[in-house]
Amino acid sequence: MIILGVETSCDETGASVLSKRGDRIEILSNVLSSSASLQSKYGGIIPEQAAREQIKAVTLVIEEALSQAKVKPEELGAIAVTYGPGLIGSLLVGVETAKTLSWVWKKPLIPVNHLIGHFYANWIMHKVKFPFVGLLVSGGHSDLVLFKGHDSYEYLGGTRDDAAGECFDKCARMLGYKYPGGPKISKMAQKGDPKAFNLPRPMKDSQDFDFSFSGLKTAFYNLVETTTLKGRKLNDLCASLEQAIIDSLIEKVIKAAQINKVDQIIVAGGVAANEKLISELKDRFKGVVLSPPPFLCTDNGAMIAARGLFERPIKNPLTLQAKPGLSLSLDN
Ligand code: KG4
Ligand code: ZN
Repeated sequence: MIILGVETSCDETGASVLSKRGDRIEILSNVLSSSASLQSKYGGIIPEQAAREQIKAVTLVIEEALSQAKVKPEELGAIAVTYGPGLIGSLLVGVETAKTLSWVWKKPLIPVNHLIGHFYANWIMHKVKFPFVGLLVSGGHSDLVLFKGHDSYEYLGGTRDDAAGECFDKCARMLGYKYPGGPKISKMAQKGDPKAFNLPRPMKDSQDFDFSFSGLKTAFYNLVETTTLKGRKLNDLCASLEQAIIDSLIEKVIKAAQINKVDQIIVAGGVAANEKLISELKDRFKGVVLSPPPFLCTDNGAMIAARGLFERPIKNPLTLQAKPGLSLSLDN
């Protein structure tokens, strides 16, 4: 089966062609165009602007993905597309483009939940077995999910306020760094002492599977306001922030795996590119920990195509609607 995946939920336009033979999934192409550098000039994403950039890029990116894969439209078995959650304008561009292509090329259309798609980046590189506890950590989400099968998953908990990636990004912004701030903070953190500053680990000991990062953000803000930050101190502050985020995440994900008697943890989303998060989780969890390589952690078309390989097509492709508020519960 050869499948095209299209991702346009935010500021990235992604298209990828994957082939699946037996259990083996191969990336034939994975093309990405991002308006992040344009958005970062304004200090964050302007939804209308992101949507306009999606319109400019989407057909070019899809054409390039097919061309790099050396695949003709008639060779495709299906088209998978992100239909939510995300920015409505951006989502509409991908959904309407994929609907049109599915109609013109007479190909099945597979709607993919972006959040589930993030986890399926792991299927491209690893042999994934059910059950597992999934930790999704991105710019917009921090969620814990128990996966029992491709269509059987249970939401365990998530952030009550900011996402882990958002905490990285907003704290980076307080230090004057552009979006996305996570990679910058973690690079500086490598040269710093994670114990140098005492930052809170909110909800670390709560009995649920929820997270909270807004209090940590405020504590970080207070430190930035009251400390002269230069050279090593700046690295120490970044290392202390990174450690506080990692500790909060790891505590809950390991507890979720233990309580549900699961020996596999799968991490996904942009923050899964954080090497320290993955290495500490591997050190502390007595089981298997999987995460995608960094280029498949952040938004891309390959993860959408990968999920599409395990999902049923929609009966009438022209009825597909973008759902900006889609969540991880199965009934929406
Ligand atoms: O999954 P993603 O591309 O977008 C959403 O769907 O939100 O994730 C982007 C997020 C940003 O918050 C970015 O700062 C964070 O992933 N991120 C990282 C790292 N690389 C990306 N955070 C911490 N360490 C990293 N190495
Ligand atoms: Zn994402």
